[in-house]
Amino acid sequence: MSGSEAEKQAAARAAAALVRDGDLVGLGSGSTVAHLFPALAARGLAIRCVAASPSSEQAARAVGLEVVPFEQLARLDVAIDGADQITRDGWLIKGGGAAHTREKIVAAAADRFIVIGGAEKLVDALEPPIPLELLEFGLAATLAALQPVTLRDVPRSPDGGIIADYHGPIEDPAQLATRLSATPGVVDHGLFPPELTNTAIIARGEGILAFEIPHG
Ligand code: 5RP
Repeated sequence: MSGSEAEKQAAARAAAALVRDGDLVGLGSGSTVAHLFPALAARGLAIRCVAASPSSEQAARAVGLEVVPFEQLARLDVAIDGADQITRDGWLIKGGGAAHTREKIVAAAADRFIVIGGAEKLVDALEPPIPLELLEFGLAATLAALQPVTLRDVPRSPDGGIIADYHGPIEDPAQLATRLSATPGVVDHGLFPPELTNTAIIARGEGILAFEIPHG
């Protein structure tokens, strides 16, 4: 296992240890969270999970986790997910795997959202690109309103959204998040504000850095 793969596994195992018997658990997606599924299954807890992507659903089921639909559940006890970038004050960029819309819904529904990653995910300041999910209707007009933006050559989201990336500067993440959310045609973007996240678990070499995200 490469150093960074070992860090992903260490962060995922540390997060798995925080899940309690009986929890409703939100599962994110990506290569870091892939290490969470066997770690959770190994604990043998009576938990039910919802998955933010079809690939996570399949991988979680493959190790014996119970995955239930997310249409009828108003809240989750905990959600765990990776990120592309994590700042010390709790801003995240997500969506490298194009699943940020569903991942944000899962994170927002959880009483406690834990973000996990290897050391390279912890950054001093967020850097573009910011993943976007867009409606096809009016796409050219949406792209014109969002410049600079590029379409990503990946399949549509499970909800039919088109995946793109915003490449402009991120001087004020809150202001930019507001602007992206307010642009008609944007389903959602990959900027996750600190209010969404409770705990960050970063693995660096043999060590684990866990910190709570200050709210307000
Ligand atoms: C998918 C995501 C992932 O959590 C993010 O891209 C990190 O992925 P990985 O753990 O493979 O580095 O946001 O939409």
